[in-house]
Amino acid sequence: MNAGIIGTGHYVPEKVLTNHDMEKIVDTSDEWIRTRTGIEERRIASDDMDTSDLAFRAAEDALKDADVKAEDLDMILVATVTPDQPFPSVSNMLQHRLGATKAASMDVAAACSGFMYGLITAKQFIENGAYENVLVIGVEKLSKITNWEDRNTCVLFGDAAGAAVVGPVSDDKGILSFELGSEGSGGPHLYQGKEDDLLYMNGREVFKFAVRQMPESSVNVVKKIGLSEQDVDYLIPHQANIRIMEAARQRLGVPEEKMATAVKRYGNTSSASIPLALSEEVKAGKIKENDLVVLVGFGGGLTWGAVALRWGK
Ligand code: UT7
Repeated sequence: MNAGIIGTGHYVPEKVLTNHDMEKIVDTSDEWIRTRTGIEERRIASDDMDTSDLAFRAAEDALKDADVKAEDLDMILVATVTPDQPFPSVSNMLQHRLGATKAASMDVAAACSGFMYGLITAKQFIENGAYENVLVIGVEKLSKITNWEDRNTCVLFGDAAGAAVVGPVSDDKGILSFELGSEGSGGPHLYQGKEDDLLYMNGREVFKFAVRQMPESSVNVVKKIGLSEQDVDYLIPHQANIRIMEAARQRLGVPEEKMATAVKRYGNTSSASIPLALSEEVKAGKIKENDLVVLVGFGGGLTWGAVALRWGK
């Protein structure tokens, strides 16, 4: 038995902040942001909407798509570095709010790789037969920890939620291989400050790491199942920077129209970026039954994760 994604969902806040809006906040330009990152606009959650509110909406969307009832969930895993509060966890809050009466719940913290860590954790519980339906959510309200005076970082991030229901699928479908990794020595390149709770990043160092790691992990997961780059039909990379995403796409030889580019409209939404991009591509009918899809992410930690999955149930 394999574990696969049997439903996807997402939610983005209504408020749009364009690059031109950013020009009024810090010394930057639409041209710089577009050419250096590919970002055109991002979404910002209102003050009365916290991380769990974003997650709740994405969860409802994914459950509906999967045709799974909240009371049939065995586990809820929420990947986030911007929880409402340290505890109770966002997943605990959702367990109650969704009415997931029998679900265990915990949050996963692996920065932008969090959804990948959650997804691969869910896979273990499904494949060992312990659980049948696991809801995995990636969600961030990064605007809470963004330093709106630092042009190096504030132009990059946005708020969003993405979700996937993971369940048993037939042997030839679902998550066929994975890779997870971490390199704690890179911690100082991307972290939340202890004094002010704000996000700090050495963009150039993270960039160097990401352009090496994303293509490498993508190739590794495909090789693990005895296939090669040419067999990849669709690429959903972490939506941090179009230049990093392009490095992975070109290494795999995937055509431009077969890579999700939600980064343009939402910026970098950390844990939410991969499930959000996946959900959008699925809703647009771009991912077809039997497509070999690679999901690949990297982030603070440093951390990374990738899966090769055969789409379908
Ligand atoms: O989710 C994982 C987390 N993060 C990432 O994936 C980020 C990875 N890194 C990146 O995406 C890129 O490194 C950045 C987009 C952050 C920066 O692009 P870059 O091509 O690496 O630029 P840079 O850091 O080398 O900076 C180039 C110049 C600098 O000016 P000087 O020192 O050369 O005069 C910056 O001060 O661009 C300047 N700059 C800006 N200018 C206008 C930095 N931010 C801005 C800005 N507007 N917003």
